[in-house]
Amino acid sequence: MKKGNGGEKMTQDTTVLLDERRIFKPSKEIIERAHIKDWEAEIEKGKDIEKYWAEKAEQFEWFKKYDKVLDDSNKPFYKWFVNGKINLAYNAVDRWIHTEKRNQVAILYVNERGHEKKITYYELYREVNKLANAFKNLGVKKGDKVSTYLPMCPELIITLLACTKIGAIHSVVYSGLSVGAFVDRVNDAEAKVILTADGTYRRGKIIDLKKISDEAVLRCPTVETIVVVNHTGSKIEISELSGREIFYDRLIEGEPVECEPEHMDAEDPLFILYTSGSTGKPKGVLHTTAGYMVGVATTLRNVFDIQDDDLWWCTGDIGWITGHSYVLYGPLLLGTTTVVYEGAPDYPDPGVWWNIVERYGVTKFYTAPTAIRHLMRFGNRYPNIYDLSSLKILGTVGEPINPEAWVWYYKNIGKEKTPIMDTWWQTETGMHLISPLPSAPLKPGSATKPLPGIDADVVDVDGKPVPMGKGGLLVIKTPWPAMFRTLYKDEQRYMDVYWTDVPGGVYSAGDMARKDEDGYFWIQGRSDDVLKIAGHRVGTSEVESAFVSHPAVAEAAVIGKSDPIKGEVIKAFLILKEGKKLDTNLIEELSRHVRYELGPVAVLGEMEQVEKLPKTRSGKIMRRILRAKEEGKDLGDTSTLEE
Ligand code: WT7
Repeated sequence: MKKGNGGEKMTQDTTVLLDERRIFKPSKEIIERAHIKDWEAEIEKGKDIEKYWAEKAEQFEWFKKYDKVLDDSNKPFYKWFVNGKINLAYNAVDRWIHTEKRNQVAILYVNERGHEKKITYYELYREVNKLANAFKNLGVKKGDKVSTYLPMCPELIITLLACTKIGAIHSVVYSGLSVGAFVDRVNDAEAKVILTADGTYRRGKIIDLKKISDEAVLRCPTVETIVVVNHTGSKIEISELSGREIFYDRLIEGEPVECEPEHMDAEDPLFILYTSGSTGKPKGVLHTTAGYMVGVATTLRNVFDIQDDDLWWCTGDIGWITGHSYVLYGPLLLGTTTVVYEGAPDYPDPGVWWNIVERYGVTKFYTAPTAIRHLMRFGNRYPNIYDLSSLKILGTVGEPINPEAWVWYYKNIGKEKTPIMDTWWQTETGMHLISPLPSAPLKPGSATKPLPGIDADVVDVDGKPVPMGKGGLLVIKTPWPAMFRTLYKDEQRYMDVYWTDVPGGVYSAGDMARKDEDGYFWIQGRSDDVLKIAGHRVGTSEVESAFVSHPAVAEAAVIGKSDPIKGEVIKAFLILKEGKKLDTNLIEELSRHVRYELGPVAVLGEMEQVEKLPKTRSGKIMRRILRAKEEGKDLGDTSTLEE
């Protein structure tokens, strides 16, 4: 791995002095190296959407070429690469073992204890095939669902690829979620097999995942087999396993190292991933095969300018879409090395990430604004201990990055040499949609423009573009290959939530945004009640039902309250049962209760006991009113308020 990026600084335009007007121009060196040297020209090229994406599809090995790039005859149920036959795992793994990448490290696993494991493409190939064969023995067939409740570990990646190889649909449950969330997701997906582990490392402790899973599977009737990965070496005895449980190592023992890839239709389902909405149960976002491949590989290659000598590290967990697209599939489809890190950003100390960057020579680094804000608190002491000169490009995702954090990241991590790719996208979009390329002039806090091949706009409720500088609804006007195809078992909700809000058949993202005089997009946050906590989407309704499931609570309404580090924390308004008082004991008990139901992702800020909640005549809680009151703002339109 070559170290250092030559040292040329990006140039800052000094003619505009207002902070939020700062423009950072790419250095000559960045442009010279880049696959795409002219950002604007590439955007022009992307205007012929079908031609653009057809060209990108050529990087893969197809069993049978598609007949048509895009079928839009049944909107909003789009189809990409119609009748093409392909296998994603084959393209992400098998394809490389016939090339010079065969013995290159595919997965570089490292955890907070500093333990590492390197798996080459050839080793990955064998492991995936063994597990794929073992899955077949368990009766897993094309279209069957496999759920995982695993830490960030090599076995998780192997599992997802093994599913993909035989055409099983995977559904990952983030290992930070608790029993209730686990049960809902596994039952909705009707998973046949579950994989879990003895534990995961977190801040010096081992979290017992098996215990949570044991409790959950009691309520999961479709599960036939539970595979247990011995990850932390906590000694579970065979005799402790139930009849439907088996150790991972036992399961793959003696399995052949070859396995024919299933010939998947371009539109065959690839995975389901649950995400929170503003109402009702979590949404099972369904992604399919070929379009997703083309979309994630292309965006990763272009946005982070992935080259053969890169060492790629995306800190996102595979339990979220970021990990699916940019820890697992994107990097392997490009034949690069992907760092898989298990642990927190600040344990054993807040220099742990920079230590890893130095130790391995990470060149491209992608994380969330919440992590940057957290690490920023410790100042430049930790980044200064380590040699970060291998870094060439940085990125962020998950929520808007405040210019202050952007500049801190730029100065202290990138040493004013590395451009920052602020990538806007969603679980539903599967891939980056609004993001700069390394050759773009950057403005801290803006995700810049829609990527080549993407057509986005900011409109009013009638679908009319709003004037420059005015806020409005963010919409995507034309389909893109990695788009989700539906909500699992709920086509109606798919149409209602995303495709009918704004007239004109456009996709409404649920975000507010504005465009500036250069056509740059500034994302302002969600337009619905969805909370964004530490970069994770948390549905108000899920948190509220967790509160209400406690015997002391009659009714609950939650809103997001801004927090300097987490972005948002939950503020809960609670109507308690007769005679109950919200004292410190009850507050503590409720915190524990909600955490138990939902897991540590639900970061509680405050609780407040109230007598009444603002509701519409039809009984819907008007969280907007609660928010306005909390922030001391004007209540806005209250005509639908009951009293
Ligand atoms: C929501 C999607 C996509 C992976 C992580 C989150 C917010 C995401 C940005 C960004 C401003 C952003 C939006 C979006 N968001 N990236 N660069 N700038 N906001 O996935 O859980 O599906 O959440 O995250 O509000 O709608 P997700």
